[in-house]
Amino acid sequence: MTTTVLSVASEAYPLVKTGGLADVVGALPAALAIHDVAVTTLIPGYPALADTLWQGRSGEQARVVHVYDDLLGVEARLLAGEIAGHPLLVLDAPDLFARVGGLYGDRGGKDWPDNWRRFAALGRAGADLASGAIPGYAFDIAHAHDWQAAMTAAYLRYAPGPGVAAKSVVTIHNIAFQGRFDASVFADLGLPAGAFALDGVEYYGGVGFLKAGLEAADAIATVSPTYAQEIRHGEYGMGLEGLIATRADRVRGIVNGIDPAVWDPATDAALPVRYTARILAKRRINKRAVETRFGLDTGDGPIFTVISRLTWQKGMDVLADCLDLLVALGGRLALLGSGDAELEAAFLAAADRHPGRIGVIIGYDEPLSHLLQGGADAILVPSRFEPCGLTQLYGLAYGCVPVVARTGGLADTIIDANAAALGAGVATGIQFGDVTPDSLGLALRRAVDLYDSPSVWSGLQRQGMKADFSWRRSGRLYADLYSGLIEA
Ligand code: ADP
Ligand code: GLC
Repeated sequence: MTTTVLSVASEAYPLVKTGGLADVVGALPAALAIHDVAVTTLIPGYPALADTLWQGRSGEQARVVHVYDDLLGVEARLLAGEIAGHPLLVLDAPDLFARVGGLYGDRGGKDWPDNWRRFAALGRAGADLASGAIPGYAFDIAHAHDWQAAMTAAYLRYAPGPGVAAKSVVTIHNIAFQGRFDASVFADLGLPAGAFALDGVEYYGGVGFLKAGLEAADAIATVSPTYAQEIRHGEYGMGLEGLIATRADRVRGIVNGIDPAVWDPATDAALPVRYTARILAKRRINKRAVETRFGLDTGDGPIFTVISRLTWQKGMDVLADCLDLLVALGGRLALLGSGDAELEAAFLAAADRHPGRIGVIIGYDEPLSHLLQGGADAILVPSRFEPCGLTQLYGLAYGCVPVVARTGGLADTIIDANAAALGAGVATGIQFGDVTPDSLGLALRRAVDLYDSPSVWSGLQRQGMKADFSWRRSGRLYADLYSGLIEA
């Protein structure tokens, strides 16, 4: 029998995206359909959705499936639409989501002060849909992603609708973001007083949305096996390590897949030239396009790329300290990203210091990210922690060799080009240990040495392109997780 899942999240590619969460939420419906799992996605009604939903491709208005007179203090509607051919529900609550700025904060990057209400409302709607409060809707599983959706599980636990409540799964995409708010918001969440408890929504004296969801969930998933282990310990657990360790029997690490409809160099419309592992030489034309876009000297030396949020998590400060070395080694850098003002300034300054060798584009540009994967030689991912990471997986698929820190999903997805792995022909990239300038510097040296040996380098590229990070395996793991919960 088909399993029905309501996937609740704050972003979903291609409608609205700030990071890897959107890629995963956007890919899940197709990934799970082949395992007889039918996914409906629920996301907030940001202005970015207007074109797709309100006007509709065919000019029709989206169908209203429910009207709330008072959803945590605001008027709201649930609208039905489609995302890549799969069912979509949108929480249309203009007071909460129709604003100019980012998904989570204003243009200056300051969090919206009512984020607690915005994402509690999302959770409330998710729980209503998954527990019989909205006529015509029922699901076997409510699958909530990250803190913004985690309250779905808490509402299902403490204040479900009148029908059969779905089992709940919470996936942690990044435990660093927890949705912590002042205790004073609790009164407006519409939960019974008893929910403000040590094993409930209370968190260090305040309210914790992710914490509440993790306590309530029937199962917890995170996006790689190594990260599932790491978050049981202080440094990585960020305050939630005790909870994770206590609930360890419920925690699964399921590595993300990549969506071949979006990320395949043989069909990618964003590439000047498309290619496969058999015709890798064609990448050279894409490489020329990268040089042009980033103002780099034309040449045969390696182009390293970075496609990333510019933050401490991503080790970008450490990379900034290695740029003179990167250039001295004969490398070039094409960086696309945005984030901390200080880091943006450091990269722009490096580009000024090394014209023709370092090119920096500050911003967010989806097609350009594809060109970089399809034209650069190596992608740098020196993260201090990385729950899964997707850019190294795209790098593998595109023959853009990943140079990564050995942590989280980076440790689980890249096979380091040490002598044994090279000898066995299984290496796919370069890993390094500590995220320090010394150790990243050594990794850059290794990368340049390997690049200088064309047959070894193309071996790495081909091996990476052969690696299967489609959703086939991970989709099955999620399907098994769901069916285990239903049987229990
Ligand atoms: P995270 O979600 O922690 O930022 P991931 O590696 O999981 O990291 O996912 C990042 C996603 O965002 C990838 O799809 C990547 O290509 C994309 N991305 C990051 N920065 C940019 C950018 N500046 N322009 C375009 N895409 C970007
Ligand atoms: C988070 C993590 C990243 C992961 C993504 C999708 O943004 O930082 O490592 O790949 O979620 O799961």
